[in-house]
Amino acid sequence: MNDLMTQTKINIIPNENSRLHEVDFNNLMFGKKFSDHMFVMEFENGTWKEPAIKPFGPIQITPALNTLHYGQAVFEGMKAFYKDDETINIYRPKDHFERMNFSSRRMGIPETSYEIFITALEELLKLDNKFVPRLEQSALYIRPFIFASDDLLAARSSSKFSYYIITSPVGAYYDEGFNPVSLTTTKEYVRAVVGGTGEVKTAGNYAASFLPAKKAKEDGYTQVLWLDAKEHKYIEEVGTMNIHFLIGDTLVTPKLTGSILGGITRRSVLTLAEEWGYKVEERRITIDEVFEASDNGTLKEVFGSGTAAVISPVGLIHHEGKKINIGIGSIGDFAKRLYDEITGIQYGTIEDRHNWIHSVKV
Ligand SMILES: Cc1ncc(COP(=O)(O)O)c(C=O)c1O
Repeated sequence: MNDLMTQTKINIIPNENSRLHEVDFNNLMFGKKFSDHMFVMEFENGTWKEPAIKPFGPIQITPALNTLHYGQAVFEGMKAFYKDDETINIYRPKDHFERMNFSSRRMGIPETSYEIFITALEELLKLDNKFVPRLEQSALYIRPFIFASDDLLAARSSSKFSYYIITSPVGAYYDEGFNPVSLTTTKEYVRAVVGGTGEVKTAGNYAASFLPAKKAKEDGYTQVLWLDAKEHKYIEEVGTMNIHFLIGDTLVTPKLTGSILGGITRRSVLTLAEEWGYKVEERRITIDEVFEASDNGTLKEVFGSGTAAVISPVGLIHHEGKKINIGIGSIGDFAKRLYDEITGIQYGTIEDRHNWIHSVKV
């Protein structure tokens, strides 16, 4: 039985030796520097134990740790933004939380409660608000994760789990303007199959994509554009982004068929596009349809969506020896409008009409 703890009192052990001075906010590498505190909660004997916030630092693990061998682990990736000296905005925390529980259910990991999650985030932001970058377009990346912590070499579900939340200041994704990415399909590899784990955020999905991603890079492309595993013709997604096509005045986005991660940014894109009067179609779309739309001049824009870049323009797609160019080497008007709207809402300069922001007074 999962114990959805509603006790929101978190035991806080403050960090006496802040490492804030080690952070060069003008030169941040993604995921390299971490804030002073981390959230920790352990699951044992069928229940989540007392939550705590401790100084960030190394943790001791056994070489027999279940996760190291069998990969029973889930994670989230989300962001908080500096609004003003008293306010930090967290973007869609409830949606990220729900997706983590969705991932946990698939991976046989006990669910957690929203009260604990949001209280942990609020406490972390209060303690480490100086780590939230003030510079334009930068943010605090938040990484909640849960991993199996049985000390036992047995290929079965763990009985113990560890739940952590760590945070990391990250710089502007587009320091020198928007650089469109190039994508290639691959016949050799697939990312996920329906019934597998592609629709959840679990460690192994990413490990399996590293070799194909490396090969794509060696061939001169930024990332792989994944096609469906069965017929190899329907477009699924990119490494850490969902993909969108503006064909004529219709926004076409691959439907979530069970092997695609349901991105939170994807949801924001679909909501805004509808609100702005575009026709929005969540459906299966083949790579051939995209190439045809390019040939007949109706393919106006292609872009990815994800927490890291928000909106990422795609400038070229390669598929089986053929290439199409999209746009004119910069971001398209529609993608730029989405980027401006979503980031405006995140930083609090545009009204949050959809209740996507959870503001924390620090
Ligand atoms: C495989 C995959 N697809 C899509 C996304 C985009 O999701 P989100 O917008 O929630 O960041 C991510 C990033 O989390 C991802 O890892």
